[in-house]
Amino acid sequence: MRSPVVLGIESSCDETGAGLVRDGKLLGHAVASSMDEHARFGGVVPEIAARAHVHAAAPVVHAALADAGLTMRDIGAVAVTTGPGLSGALQVGLAAAKGIAYALDVPLYGVHHLAGHVAADTLEHGPLPDPCMVLIVSGGHTSLLLVRDLARDPIVHLGDTLDDAAGECFDKVARVFGLPYPGGPAVDRAAREGDPGAVPFPRPLTGPRDDPYAFSFSGLKTAAARWAEQHRAAGRALPVADGAASLQEAVADVLTRKAVAACVEHGVGTLVVVGGVAANSRVRALARQRCAAAGVGLRVPPLRLCTDNGAMIAAVGDLLARAGAPAAPLDVSIDPSAPL
Ligand code: KG4
Ligand code: ZN
Repeated sequence: MRSPVVLGIESSCDETGAGLVRDGKLLGHAVASSMDEHARFGGVVPEIAARAHVHAAAPVVHAALADAGLTMRDIGAVAVTTGPGLSGALQVGLAAAKGIAYALDVPLYGVHHLAGHVAADTLEHGPLPDPCMVLIVSGGHTSLLLVRDLARDPIVHLGDTLDDAAGECFDKVARVFGLPYPGGPAVDRAAREGDPGAVPFPRPLTGPRDDPYAFSFSGLKTAAARWAEQHRAAGRALPVADGAASLQEAVADVLTRKAVAACVEHGVGTLVVVGGVAANSRVRALARQRCAAAGVGLRVPPLRLCTDNGAMIAAVGDLLARAGAPAAPLDVSIDPSAPL
């Protein structure tokens, strides 16, 4: 029997995404973002995000179907992010997914947002090797995961950030530097003109006695804020490009050093870097360089699949459907603080 076309819906934060996947192949997708509506608040406002999902959900599903050249009647299963994420935002996506699954009488699959980020890479590079090491770096997460089979085995969580996520660090420091929101891409752009060695920002938790799999970015954020403050107090113009390049270098250094060391430690031959911060040019370049030096293969999804989207949720739904996983009941709830 042919596997179903899976519609994936993502609404955990400020992106409303819909994607269609069958047999590991991306058929079409669409994303709407409420990012601009949050810009003047300097961060995602949950109420605004939820309302934007209500506005965008149906048109985004429609756009994804149009992108794939399909209609509602072609959908054979629905996958939706149930957590972690903002509760009001998640509820909109889940309600939409339930409505579609019920109306079409097709199975519904609840998907963990981070499993979605991991699966995003399969849409570009095919099935994940078993095992692989995954570095998830986004606005909400910085985690090292040992992944075997996304549809069957639980993911082994090796470590996390103890405080801020890497993307959060970029976003917050960008604000202090006077760069626009969202900060990550703005820091990346500003860093092009800067010297990564200009400011000796710390490399948190990289000492011999530190937890090799834990991350910490709040000290780095404070160091960057203090550096900016010292310039302002002295009446000097802030060399933003140098600050951005140095911050980016520190974040990329810590992330890639730990991720590659984790691969070597566990004898894992492939590192997959996913999440919004995987879009960072220096993270990508340094990961490439260090993986090559350590004899570790590197997989990074294309930029459009790195940030939140519905295709990655559909990719997990497709794996679950093909593995014969049980569908979720129609009374399934969101799990805003879902553990892995
Ligand atoms: O995965 P994502 O879209 O949403 C979450 O699940 O958080 O990640 C968003 C994060 C934001 O913090 C954003 O600033 C960061 O990814 N980001 C970047 C870049 N593009 C997005 N950070 C650094 N450099 C980039 N080029
Ligand atoms: Zn995400």
